[in-house]
Amino acid sequence: MGLPKARASAVLLVLSALEACALDSYVAAVYEHNVVLSEDTEVPVCPEEALVLMDKNTVILETAIKEVARQGCNIIVTPEDGIYIWVFTREKIHPYLEDIPDPQVDWIPYVAPGRFTPSPVLERLRRNNSIYVVANMADKKPCNGSDPRCPSDGHYQYNTNVVFDSEGKLVARYHKYNLFVTEKQFNYPKDPEFVTFNTSFGYFGIFTCADTLYHTPAVVLASRFQADSILFPTAWGNTLPLLSAVQFHSAWAMGMGVNLLSANTCNSTLGMTGSGIYAPDSPRAYYYNTEMENGQLLVTELSSCSHLSPDYPAAVNWKLYASSIEQLPSNDHYFTGVVYHDLFSFTELTEPEGNHAICQQDLCCHLSYKMAEKQKDDVYVLGASDGLHVIEGEYYLQICTLLKCKSTDLNTRGQLVETAQTKFEMFSLSGTFGTNYVFPEVLYSGVQLAPGEFQVLHDGCLINWTSTSKPVLSVTLFGRWYEKDPPHTQQASP
Ligand SMILES: *[C@@H]1O[C@H](CO)[C@@H](O)[C@H](O)[C@H]1NC(C)=O
Ligand SMILES: *[C@@H]1O[C@H](CO)[C@@H](O)[C@H](O)[C@H]1NC(C)=O
Ligand SMILES: *[C@@H]1O[C@H](CO)[C@@H](O)[C@H](O)[C@H]1NC(C)=O
Ligand SMILES: *[C@@H]1O[C@H](CO)[C@@H](O)[C@H](O)[C@H]1NC(C)=O
Repeated sequence: MGLPKARASAVLLVLSALEACALDSYVAAVYEHNVVLSEDTEVPVCPEEALVLMDKNTVILETAIKEVARQGCNIIVTPEDGIYIWVFTREKIHPYLEDIPDPQVDWIPYVAPGRFTPSPVLERLRRNNSIYVVANMADKKPCNGSDPRCPSDGHYQYNTNVVFDSEGKLVARYHKYNLFVTEKQFNYPKDPEFVTFNTSFGYFGIFTCADTLYHTPAVVLASRFQADSILFPTAWGNTLPLLSAVQFHSAWAMGMGVNLLSANTCNSTLGMTGSGIYAPDSPRAYYYNTEMENGQLLVTELSSCSHLSPDYPAAVNWKLYASSIEQLPSNDHYFTGVVYHDLFSFTELTEPEGNHAICQQDLCCHLSYKMAEKQKDDVYVLGASDGLHVIEGEYYLQICTLLKCKSTDLNTRGQLVETAQTKFEMFSLSGTFGTNYVFPEVLYSGVQLAPGEFQVLHDGCLINWTSTSKPVLSVTLFGRWYEKDPPHTQQASP
């Protein structure tokens, strides 16, 4: 007697996957850091002065690392631009750069300092304290006229993540591929890098900030490489109502079915805050605070092999339910508005309960809802948007959203609101998406998440389990149609 063939190979598959995860779970930490700025970043500094500034930040990061190592954490992520800030020109950042070797050189920087070109940051960043550490810094790589892409100043400058293992060995290096429009100080690598590494507590992938809006390398790491957990340093300015950090990053983890360890910087002037540790089924820990200027540590347990966890969400057919609905959108209360530079078609939810549909281009969105008690100051709309976003990056969106508006004044729809008073007894939102990449967001008053209060059904409906525990700011299916994106732009090439 033997197992049927299909069953036997399924068992083998599970066993080999389990071998990569000797531990069922691990303890993850992220640190939201308020980056110490130089007194005057307009003035060029010498490398020694740059090091003094960087030390102010690495000392703070090292304190957080030691604290979580003492608590028995396996890994900690620190933010993008966490060692020096983002305000540099290409020339001014030069004294801060280090030539970071390929991890294949098998190097423990503090054990063998000076083995490569001067690398004081790498050498200081990491001591042997039994925890994996993820940090963001900048790499420089010399080039010359034999390379037609070589910048005129003779080197490439990359926004770079580094990972040290529990002994302090450099095990991963990732050069950011999708630079934000303001990052003129950096180049992106000619070919995107897919950086992964294995540990006894799971299989990891890594990328940075704006990468999360694009297909490559982010989606490839989660889907083709099947990474269990993604390490994600970021410096994310909150863009309500649909792209605040905790909202979008938790939705990405759920939509892609991975753990996401997201460490943001905090900067109240630029609206940067919001870090979290997100599992595929629900956020496990998160932090959002626009007033605090101190650092913040988050620590929580995660499943090592997220794909094998019993909580792992089943595959979703995103357009199944909405495509089966016959109801045509009524043109009552139909109007258009702009949310973060994207044109939306809206219909207002005038009644405390009902069914609505709204379409734009090829996307039709459907909503059934019942408010617990409609507060008369709260205005809610159902919106649909189907088109190419072109501000601060170009990417194709398909969005269905139930949104609280600032007021009944037509001109303020889509404007930034952070609070609401109306709770919902039920909502069910769906859309006729052309893409399989849809990120489900539920955001409550005060920019709070709704862990464990909602789910996506296999037919693509985003529904709540019970009455919402807090008033609702937005309920959104944020679809990304990557095939319709323009080719990777040349925006940051010199
Ligand atoms: C790091 O510390 C551990 C335990 O304290 C020790 O066994 C190991 O040899 C150390 N590694 C290095 C490279 O110093
Ligand atoms: C130019 O760069 C290439 C690749 O890094 C290197 O092999 C070559 O020696 C360099 N040539 C000169 C003249 O520096
Ligand atoms: C890590 O383990 C996974 C799963 O066993 C395997 O597919 C992958 O190739 C390994 N990756 C590295 C970088 O060793
Ligand atoms: C935020 O960053 C900017 C630089 O972009 C800096 O001028 C400002 O002082 C920072 N704000 C706080 C509150 O740290």
